Amino acid sequence: MSDSIPVLTIDGPSGAGKGTVSRIAAARLGWHYLDSGALYRAVGVAASWANLDISDPAALVRCTFDTAVVFKEDAKGDLRVWVNGSDATDELRLETTGAVASAIAAFPEVRSALKERQRAFRQAPGLVADGRDMGTVIFADAPYKVFLTASAEERAERRYNQLKDKGVSVTIDGLLREILARDARDAQRTVAPLRPAEDAVLIDTTGLNIDQVVERVLALVKT
Ligand code: DC
Repeated sequence: MSDSIPVLTIDGPSGAGKGTVSRIAAARLGWHYLDSGALYRAVGVAASWANLDISDPAALVRCTFDTAVVFKEDAKGDLRVWVNGSDATDELRLETTGAVASAIAAFPEVRSALKERQRAFRQAPGLVADGRDMGTVIFADAPYKVFLTASAEERAERRYNQLKDKGVSVTIDGLLREILARDARDAQRTVAPLRPAEDAVLIDTTGLNIDQVVERVLALVKT
């Protein structure tokens, strides 16, 4: 039964380091990896490709069921995300896509349309699931739950450095404003708001490097 397959949930606000920590933790454990934010982002880009009204939950639900999302490693071992047959990885990472994802994720209908698709990732020998409601809703019975945080200023700085490396021109102040707005929207929505599960272990990653966070997370998992 899939309920007996272990899941490590890693939730938290954007920029707390969930993606990197989750991917490394999954590789170290030899477990599968679910980037649930990529599913919300994929529905967001599919909706914009189809010129849908993103304030119409019925249209978004149809789009959610119609959108094929495939996670594939490229030759370098990097995870690419294909949406309806096109490699949409770069578009998925845009701040504008994140904002659309956050807006559509506020609809309970969209969240419930994605529920089973997320649960299907629970496959042997285990799953690391990264998102906002992995430990509170999607895998509420998971034996291992982590909630990663970091100050908004540090998250803005990390994002700034990532984008600078890619040659994208942004300001720290602008990023900080976007991060605070997205945090507020994700925390205030009525369905599955961003909050730690009662049984989650809180890790504040401010001032920690990725390796230190990965070690703390893996120390929780008994294999
Ligand atoms: O983790 P991310 O930045 O890729 O997520 C993009 C948006 O999707 C985020 O602002 C909120 C939403 N999201 C969500 O509501 N629930 C999840 N489990 C994952 C993401």
